[in-house]
Formats: sequence, C-alpha cells, structure tokens
Amino acid sequence: MSLALPAVAALTRVGSGMAGTTAGQDQDRADSPVVVVANRLPVDQVTEPDGSTRWQRSPGGLVTALEPFVAGRGGAWVGWSGSAGEAPEPFESGGMSLIPVPLSEEEVDRYYEGMSNASLWPLYHDVVEKPEYHRTWWDAYVQVNKRFADRAAEVAAEGAIVWVHDYQLQLVPALLRQQRPDLTIGFFLHIPFPPYELFTQLPWRSAIVEGLLGADLVGFQRPSAAVNFVQLARRLHDLPTRSSTIEYDGRTVTARAFPISIDVKAFEELAGSPEVVQRAKEIRAELGNPEKLILGVDRLDYTKGITVRLDAFQELLEDGVVEAPDTVMVQVATPSRERVEHYVHMRETIEQQVGHINGVHGTLGGPAVHYINQSVPREELAALYRAADVMLVTPYRDGMNLVAKEYVAARSDLGGALVLSEFAGAAAELKQAFLVNPHDIAGVKNQLVRALRLEPAEGAKRMRAMRRHLAKNDLEHWASSFFEALQAQA
Ligand code: ADP
Ligand code: G6P
Repeated sequence: MSLALPAVAALTRVGSGMAGTTAGQDQDRADSPVVVVANRLPVDQVTEPDGSTRWQRSPGGLVTALEPFVAGRGGAWVGWSGSAGEAPEPFESGGMSLIPVPLSEEEVDRYYEGMSNASLWPLYHDVVEKPEYHRTWWDAYVQVNKRFADRAAEVAAEGAIVWVHDYQLQLVPALLRQQRPDLTIGFFLHIPFPPYELFTQLPWRSAIVEGLLGADLVGFQRPSAAVNFVQLARRLHDLPTRSSTIEYDGRTVTARAFPISIDVKAFEELAGSPEVVQRAKEIRAELGNPEKLILGVDRLDYTKGITVRLDAFQELLEDGVVEAPDTVMVQVATPSRERVEHYVHMRETIEQQVGHINGVHGTLGGPAVHYINQSVPREELAALYRAADVMLVTPYRDGMNLVAKEYVAARSDLGGALVLSEFAGAAAELKQAFLVNPHDIAGVKNQLVRALRLEPAEGAKRMRAMRRHLAKNDLEHWASSFFEALQAQA
C-alpha cells in the first residue's frame, strides 16, 4: 500500500520558466532565507510499472519532524527524490520549495546504500551489525556531499540560515562554509553519535569531524552524543574545548543536545477525531475483538529489535502466560533500504519467525501475529495506536524513536501502555514507560506481562505524566530552541 500525501496532490513546478511560476519562486536565484538540507526530500518519486511517476511521503522520523517545521516557515528543502537518474525541476509542495538533487545509479549504490547505510548507520548504532568500509563508497560520499553543498550555496540568500541534517551529509557544513562564509550553518544528527572508541574505527574519521566543524552549531539527540563529539575534537584534532564548545579555525563551534519531537497537537487531534476513534474499534473487531492487542510500528530496520519482541511474545505463548487469539500482536513494518544486505537477511528472519509463531500458535483465520510489511497512512497509524493495549518499542539503539512519542500523543483517552527500550533516546524523556533492556529477553517478557496486566488507574497515571512532558517538549520547542541557539551564534 502506498501513501499519497494530500499536500502533494497540488504540486506546481517552479523554475525553468514554466507557466504558473510565481515571482520569487525561481530556485536558481539565491533567495531563500531558510534552507533545510537533508538526504531525502519529504516526498519520494515513485515510478509505476507503466512508466508514469507519482510522489508519496518519504519514510522515517526525519521527515515526520521536519516537514511541519519547513512548511510552517515557507522554507526551501534541498534533497534527493529517492530515485536514480536526473533530478526533477524544483517545485512547490505543501508550502515548501523543494529542490531535488540528482544521484546516479552508482551513487545510490555507493553513497546511499554503501557509505551511508552499510558503513555509517551500523557504526553509529553501536555496531549492531558489522560496518563495511570501502574507499569507492567514501569517494562517492565526498562527491555527493559536494553536490548538496553546491546546490544549497546556490539557493541560500545572503546571510541565510542553512540547516543541514543527518549522517548522510556530514561533510556539507564545511564544504558550504568554504563557498559561503556569509551563511549561518546548523547541523543536526538524528541518530546516535558513537563514543571515541567506536568512531575511530572509521578510516575517514578526521574528515567527518572537520566536515561537522564547518557548522556554527552541531545538534544531537542526547547530551552524551554532544560530549562524544567534543571529546573527539579534543583527542583527535587537539583542539581547545570547553564543556560544549570547540575553538576551530578562529570560530567557536557549539555542540549541544536538542531532543527531537513531533507535532504533538496535530497528532493528538488526528488520533482523537471521531473517524479515527471509530476506525480503532473496527480494527479490534477485524482482529476478532481480542482481549489484548500488542502493537509494533517501525521501519524494517535491524536496529529496531523487531525479533526481540517476536521472541518475547513467542516465549510467552509457549509458557502459556498468554494465549492467541485472546492476545494478538500486530507488527507494521515499512520496507526500508531493501537492497542493503543486512536488511535482506533481517527481513527473511522476521518473516520466518512470524510464520513459525503462526504455524504453532495460530488458528484457521486467527493468526497470533499480524504482520504488515507496508507503509500505512497516518490516519490508520493513529487508529492502530488508539486500538493497542500495549505498544512495544524495543530498539537495540535509536537516536530518539518518534513512534513512542506518537503513541503517547495519540492516547488522549489515557489508555494503553508503552514498553520502551532503554536504548532509545525517548527513554530519557518518557520515564513512566515500562523500560526494558532489549538484550534481556526475560526482562522484556516481565515488562510486557506487567504492561498487559496494568490496572487502568495506574496506566492513566503513567500516560498522563508522559503526555505532560510531551506537551511542553513538542516539535516547535525543538525547532525553536535549535534556531535560537543557532541565531545566537551568528
Ligand atoms: P526512524 O526515523 O528510524 O524510522 P522513528 O520512530 O523516529 O524511526 O520515526 C519513524 C516515523 O515513520 C514515524 O513518524 C512513524 O509514524 C513512521 N512510520 C514507521 N512505520 C510506519 C509504517 N509502517 N507506516 C507509516 N508510517 C510509519
Ligand atoms: C532515519 C534517518 C533518516 C532517514 C530515515 C529513512 O530517520 O535518520 O535520515 O531518512 O531513517 O531512511 P531512508 O534511508 O529511507 O531515507
């Protein structure tokens, strides 16, 4: 199932002298006061079997968080369209100017699937899978980072603020500063940043640190990540540092934590709408009105610990602590990075495991695990959150995990329980969740049983406390604190 963004239905192309281009929208002119640079645009171009193309929402937490922020400010967004080959012309969508950057087949292979997702992604996530390092991948990474920096330099107005995002583009801050010293440059890393002992595996470690030091402000999800970065600058480059600043090239670079969040109000409103509440009831009915519904929602990624929760559920079924179909699990997993080897193996493992659990514990027409390997629309996701008694979020390591925050935002009825890995950034904020160590299956089982047996009053107390925290620490709070700190550097 694919997801069509309503905002994209009304796409109008800009630039290239097309009829309908409105003044000030030609993105080849340097006129954008706020420019976001991220590997992906908020929408993905998909080619249908008949050769026609359409746009759909891009996967992942970065887009969830940034889209409302950029749209609200009418900013420009420089990014890749998600398919190899020539880039589409710049266009307007949902109040944003989208500036596509092209990637060739070889660059998708080496820069995106290789260096970004088979070297940096596993390295930055505690080496959950073994990273591979190849010089050809690195060369492509440098080349593509230069292209993103060039495009951002072209569209940014004099003295503009440019906000660069995530591990795919860590060289962009320095490359951009070389061309445009007038800009104020921020960088935000959406994923964890490893300690010195792990980071220094990287053959190109110095280049990455220098790339990031091109920014005025480097933001991380957790304070420990900022500390790791400052330590690296001191130990690897012998730079003068204080607790959150680094002196570099005659400038002061600040490194601080800014825990990302979601548009809490918007999600709460969506989840509380009569249609979504009704759909939540229908979902339970479609599942045979189980007594307890356990839910998992993730990109299909090995860092998310999907097998951990399947293991825990399987053992509880085997132990006779829970029974299907009284208790069922729904796992929604968006396909992700499907050509990267680690992802191919993980998908096979999960599908085998689901098949095994259903073979042993399911009944005709009554599986114990409902596995949906698709992206689902936001409304359906919100209804699933409202329908679930227990939300299982068990990553081995995660920068933040917005799914956990979405679940809490969705539960204005104060129902439901959240089981959350200690190794997700969100655990530092959602302290009333049932926290688990995903490496400890016995512990995960215990916490899952506690969550399933939770008294409604105790559940409401926990949910209320988490919701209070989220209400204050929403997307606007994240973006404005980053922006204020960045402007203070200018
Ligand atoms: P990551 O950024 O690593 O994918 P997050 O939990 O921070 O992880 O963000 C995931 C985002 O993608 C959330 O906004 C979530 O709602 C969305 N998402 C995850 N799985 C699905 C799915 N199957 N269908 C639709 N959206 C999904
Ligand atoms: C995470 C990363 C993002 C990435 C997203 C989806 O959220 O932090 O940078 O865009 O996953 O992954 P993909 O590889 O499909 O862009």
